[in-house]
Amino acid sequence: MPIPERLNPTFVSAQSLRSGALEEARRRLIVALDAPSAEMATRIADSLTGVCQWFKVGMELFTAEGPAVLEPMLKRGNRIFLDLKFHDIPNTVAGAVRSAAALGVGMLNVHAAGGPAMLAAARAALDGLADPPELLAVTMLTSMDAGQMNAIGLERGAAEQVELLARMSMAAGIRGFVCSSLEVAALRVLTGPEGVLVVPGIRPAGSETLDQRRIATPAEALRQGASYLVVGRPITQASDPAEAASAILREMAEAL
Ligand code: C5P
Repeated sequence: MPIPERLNPTFVSAQSLRSGALEEARRRLIVALDAPSAEMATRIADSLTGVCQWFKVGMELFTAEGPAVLEPMLKRGNRIFLDLKFHDIPNTVAGAVRSAAALGVGMLNVHAAGGPAMLAAARAALDGLADPPELLAVTMLTSMDAGQMNAIGLERGAAEQVELLARMSMAAGIRGFVCSSLEVAALRVLTGPEGVLVVPGIRPAGSETLDQRRIATPAEALRQGASYLVVGRPITQASDPAEAASAILREMAEAL
């Protein structure tokens, strides 16, 4: 008599392995909600209920709608990456980090170029919190090419500048970075397994690159050491966002 599938250990382990990898992928995919209004953002987030866990809310949406835009997502159990890239004097950034943490976000970021004192103040602002958000540093914006860097007096190459800023951030106690797929492997070497590396510019194989230049597929980015992938338009502008996200999750699960 054949063994029923659910009692067959080979079947059970392969199946649970797959669903385990899918859950792990879900914990590591962040959907960029780059929408101008709460209505649009909520519509996208609603369409991804049960499929995606993390959403990134950036300057456009947060400036238009304020913290209230986060509430429905937080109530639903979603996690939020508040992408406001703080960059100011240490005291002001520390206050902003405390305010963001109080909103209940799971990740937030600062510009590493704010310098060691600002980074240390940002880090210290989270001390003592029971469940602090992950603090990420942005090294070089990917929009900064050689011409843009020269214009602000930076003479190092981009890779060297990224390394300098990353080492400085780590010395201030920051282990998380937002980085492009071109930098992720080098940053993983620098941070070791403790590093939390968040990589945007992800395009599923065969999809349009749109305006992104330094792109990788989900599988490539994970293999190079990404902890989290940020994906916006390939999901949010798809005719079926849930299906587009599911396909990305499957690709991630296979690479994990
Ligand atoms: O739609 P797309 O997948 O290109 O969105 C990527 C998201 O990641 C956007 O919110 C974009 O601002 C952000 N981002 C990026 N490149 C960086 C830093 C952030 O694309 N270097």
